[in-house]
Amino acid sequence: MFRQEKITDQFLRISREHTLFVETISAIRKWLSSADKHAALSGLKSLIPKLQNDMDEHFQLEEQFLFPTALLTMRDIHIVDMVLALQKEHGCFETDIRKIHDAFRSIPKSQTTLTKDLSGMLHEFCDSFEKHADIEMSSLFARMDRNRRCKAIIRGFVVK
Ligand SMILES: [Fe+2]
Ligand SMILES: [Fe+2]
Repeated sequence: MFRQEKITDQFLRISREHTLFVETISAIRKWLSSADKHAALSGLKSLIPKLQNDMDEHFQLEEQFLFPTALLTMRDIHIVDMVLALQKEHGCFETDIRKIHDAFRSIPKSQTTLTKDLSGMLHEFCDSFEKHADIEMSSLFARMDRNRRCKAIIRGFVVK
């Protein structure tokens, strides 16, 4: 579960973006546990391209603006380690979602339900993604939110 209450309004845009992911991840989880396996397959098939697209934009915002701002304003080895780990995870998520997307595209028309393999990949993806977003919201962004210099930069960005 995300702890967004720690984040003030300068981080609204980021919070809102993470909320969109939470909704998409929840929708994926709902389909994965649905008794209607046929509807689940088509529901998930339509959600994956949206998730992939949202993810690309979100990672760009974090990698081009938020992570560099954190490194610039907080000279702390723990922050450097955290940012490097988060950035590395972005690469893993991009690879994972590409694999998942390809797997959906190669499902033959005769197949009407999700394979165990694909279902497992989706479960794993949701778990890792939630963990990643939780670290960002409760650790990195919460620390950025308490840093005056960092907040000033973010505020300028949000206003634009
Ligand atoms: Fe991230
Ligand atoms: Fe994020």
